[in-house]
Amino acid sequence: MKLADNKATLSFSNGSPSVELPVYQGSIGPDVVDIRKLYAQTGMFTYDPGFMSTASCQSTITYIDGDKGELLYRGYPIEQLATSCDYLETCYLLLYGELPNPQQKTDFVNRVTNHTMVNEQMQFFLRGFRRDAHPMAVMTGLVGALSAFYHDSTDINNPEHREISAIRLIAKMPTLVAMAYKYSMGQPYMYPQNKLGYTSNFMRMMFATPCEEYEPNDVLVRAMDRIFILHADHEQNASTSTVRLCGSSGTNPFAAIAAGVACLWGPAHGGANEAALNMLEDIQKMGGVAKIGEFVSKVKDKNSGIKLMGFGHRVYKNYDPRAKLMRETCHEVLDTLGLGNDPLFKLAMALEKVALEDEYFVSRKLYPNVDFYSGIVQRAIGIPVSLFTAIFALARTVGWIAQLNEMIADPEYKIGRPRQLYVGATKRDVQPIDKR
Ligand code: SDX
Repeated sequence: MKLADNKATLSFSNGSPSVELPVYQGSIGPDVVDIRKLYAQTGMFTYDPGFMSTASCQSTITYIDGDKGELLYRGYPIEQLATSCDYLETCYLLLYGELPNPQQKTDFVNRVTNHTMVNEQMQFFLRGFRRDAHPMAVMTGLVGALSAFYHDSTDINNPEHREISAIRLIAKMPTLVAMAYKYSMGQPYMYPQNKLGYTSNFMRMMFATPCEEYEPNDVLVRAMDRIFILHADHEQNASTSTVRLCGSSGTNPFAAIAAGVACLWGPAHGGANEAALNMLEDIQKMGGVAKIGEFVSKVKDKNSGIKLMGFGHRVYKNYDPRAKLMRETCHEVLDTLGLGNDPLFKLAMALEKVALEDEYFVSRKLYPNVDFYSGIVQRAIGIPVSLFTAIFALARTVGWIAQLNEMIADPEYKIGRPRQLYVGATKRDVQPIDKR
């Protein structure tokens, strides 16, 4: 980051001495006011619950322009990556900063491929869950449990450990998600096949059985791979910030990623894709397109507590570029499967149209986000709704790792430890119980 010519001066009406704060510029996007010395100089904290105006770090990984609806991974527009690259190329880019050349890609793919199996003991963790356990409960447990098997790569401050644990996590997430799915179905696990590509391998582990092979459909595999690319990273979102804060204590990479899985589960974050699909199915049961107006009225009624899931975003105040690409993928997949008239997709597009013409949504700059259409694509591919967020976690693992490694490699990083504005009881004495 570069010191800007501009400076910030903080003055106080009570006559306290004013404070000059440096302003830094990035390569693109908003400048930052450096408040690191504010407490030492003024005895005061800043106050920013939800971090609406706070940059928690400097990063070279992902840039989002919320007003333009722009998303760049290491400077490359998401639209170009989603159409010209595959997920493992995108993983390489996010981890190492550049797209791989043919040899680098071959080496990276081979390394990932050779780490796709998990220790046989991992299946005994699954046995502790009921078959109807939510896949994200299972994934939170399994990812954290990985740290028990790789004592040779748990020192987050060791670059070699960071490298091998990155490969292991990227390689094993598809295996774990497929195991969680098979367990819920009461079907045997399918082992990864090294001759298959990353996403074909995942689809086969999901849908093949010992009795019947799964013949990957190229359009569906490409759609799944694109879903992985679109979900790979997204700047300092809630789960990435969780991973950074968790990793800042020096805990091992597997534990830090497990914390990200747990955070992503929430319906305001990664859990929104499952919630959005369930919302569409509820409207469908109410009567479909004819009932959109009634549903939207409930959303606009604050007392209903109902939100339009898959809509709105903390950063995007324009159309989420991932939602556009996801809608295109919807068309491709549904046409391939002969489901071009899928009622849920038609309902989603009608709902989007109504919302984007309604002043409530327009005035609040609420647009479809990545979660609005992703559920329809996944459902068409055959992914059960309850597994949508686990797929999101699979795809986001590389982003979490890249962000975690960027923080750990920064010589200035410290353990994250925010302060507070205390508004509780002032000091008082304990009274004997017979006097309370
Ligand atoms: C993801 O951060 C990331 O980058 C996340 C993510 C990633 O890749 O990591 O992009 C993935 O999490 C996408 C978001 C998925 N969540 C949903 O789709 C859930 C529904 N969306 C909302 O919960 C909400 O839009 C958030 C949580 C996404 C953003 O909330 P903010 O930024 O805190 O905004 P807000 O709640 O203050 O909303 C501003 C106004 C409020 O109304 P007023 O108080 O001004 O009258 O808009 C309203 C909100 O009530 N509003 C909605 C709404 N989202 C916001 N009203 C109805 N439906 C919605 N979806």
